[in-house]
Amino acid sequence: MKFSLAAATALFAGAAVAQNVAIAHPPAGASMTSGQNFTVQLNKANSLSPSSDIAVVIGLNSCTSGACPDPSQEIGYVLYSGPFSPSQSDDPALPPNQNFTVQIPPAYQGGQYQIACAHFSLIGVSICAP
Ligand SMILES: *[C@@H]1O[C@H](CO)[C@@H](O)[C@H](O)[C@H]1NC(C)=O
Ligand SMILES: *[C@@H]1O[C@H](CO)[C@@H](O)[C@H](O)[C@H]1NC(C)=O
Repeated sequence: MKFSLAAATALFAGAAVAQNVAIAHPPAGASMTSGQNFTVQLNKANSLSPSSDIAVVIGLNSCTSGACPDPSQEIGYVLYSGPFSPSQSDDPALPPNQNFTVQIPPAYQGGQYQIACAHFSLIGVSICAP
């Protein structure tokens, strides 16, 4: 399933968007296997009002010949799409965050992949920081 962000972004044309959500887990370079369930942890910048969150889409892109697609253009295979409601965890060192358990499609073969994420809030749509 491919999903293009271009149309959604256009809905919010003119809105200044900043990267206010970061993919905190898995770490860059993590290695996983087909069919594996894993946690995607999204951290939200502390300064923003929690009420502005609407949803996130987390996608998986294949990086062929070492080059990953631009996540602002292509979200890839959708691993999760739904509400985003970050909360303060027990660890006070962490900003408000939410963990999503997602599964790598069993048919996916070895290679390099990229997790991309789009954050929908009242401010607009932005791509999560890597
Ligand atoms: C992975 O997640 C899927 C869907 O949530 C579940 O059906 C499956 O049992 C999980 N597999 C493992 C190994 O935990
Ligand atoms: C998300 O998972 C991380 C790592 O296990 C944990 O430190 C954090 O508290 C969790 N976040 C929430 C909101 O429970």
